[in-house]
Amino acid sequence: MSEKKIIAVTGATGAQGGGLVRAILQDPNGGFAARALTRDVNSDKAKALAKLGAEVVAADIDNVDSLKRAFAGVHGAYCVTFFWAHLSPEKELAEAQAMAEAAQHASLRHVIWSSLEDTRQWVPLSDSSMPTLMGKYKVPHFDAKGEANQAFTRLKLPVTILLTSFYWDNFIHFGMGPKKGPDGKLALTFPMGDKKLPGIAAEDIGRCAYGIFKRSHHYVGKTVGIAGEHLTGAQLAAAFSKALGQEVHYQDVPPEVYRGFGFPGAEDLGNMFQFKRDFETYFCGARNVATSRSLNPALQTFAQWLNQNKGHIPLG
Ligand SMILES: NC(=O)c1ccc[n+]([C@@H]2O[C@H](COP(=O)([O-])OP(=O)(O)OC[C@H]3O[C@@H](n4cnc5c(N)ncnc54)[C@H](OP(=O)(O)O)[C@@H]3O)[C@@H](O)[C@H]2O)c1
Repeated sequence: MSEKKIIAVTGATGAQGGGLVRAILQDPNGGFAARALTRDVNSDKAKALAKLGAEVVAADIDNVDSLKRAFAGVHGAYCVTFFWAHLSPEKELAEAQAMAEAAQHASLRHVIWSSLEDTRQWVPLSDSSMPTLMGKYKVPHFDAKGEANQAFTRLKLPVTILLTSFYWDNFIHFGMGPKKGPDGKLALTFPMGDKKLPGIAAEDIGRCAYGIFKRSHHYVGKTVGIAGEHLTGAQLAAAFSKALGQEVHYQDVPPEVYRGFGFPGAEDLGNMFQFKRDFETYFCGARNVATSRSLNPALQTFAQWLNQNKGHIPLG
């Protein structure tokens, strides 16, 4: 047991980190052990991870000293921030800096930073094709993650920058699933035109991360993007129709209409979809499905994910 390489996992009680902890624990002969970081070691989710065999340790990514303690003696760390918990890109940046500082302090051998593009490199603030949000961002929940890459590279950490994809789980938890229109028919509404959206089962992100830790020698110093499939809105709707046994159509709306939907984060997400639509070739190209499957042979397709999860999707 003591010879196993320990991976400290932030967000262990959540989607990305939870997938990684479970991937490590499901491979008892893989040579790795999981240290699950949580703010509350007594929560039901934390206890469930302990029951599966994880070492559960208290840490808060807003507290660098707690991270230093939690990273002590580990081989690697999975670092993720939680934009939707506070809606502050500046806070994400500070949290990434705290994790990088703790990783350096603990002399980690491999760090995975769960990042996304700084879209301002494609759409400068001066570009009026999409509004600037929060004073200096185009897609706040992307931009700060991309900006934070330098927190890890500046310290010359052995880092892999992981570019994740849209979780299909958003159809369950984020209110993005098919909704009934005035005509009574179910519609999936995105401002993506006929462009492809890279998507993934959230659980597969952690499994891919595990594949990256297992191939440290290849992935340290690299950026790797992952997706389960790249599908257009029409293809997603067709898969919904088949799985649900009732027609779901894709409703394309202009990004400005989506930004005006008024739910928290609508402007951020409207800009995000516009970026993915307008830079489809780059964005899909950066998220290779075959590479993702080589990291995680159990990688799910959308149809597989849907068949497992269709009963949990609220159909408004
Ligand atoms: N939804 C998508 O399609 C999508 C796609 C790509 C990337 N992302 C990004 O994914 C990130 C979120 O990852 P996730 O979905 O895995 O999160 P999640 O499922 O919401 O997990 C949240 C977990 O984070 C922990 N946490 C929250 N604040 C913390 C803090 N200050 N210190 C330590 N732990 C804290 C909580 O654990 P405890 O309560 O146990 O401490 C919680 O269980 C976001 O930044 C989002 O932008 C989302």
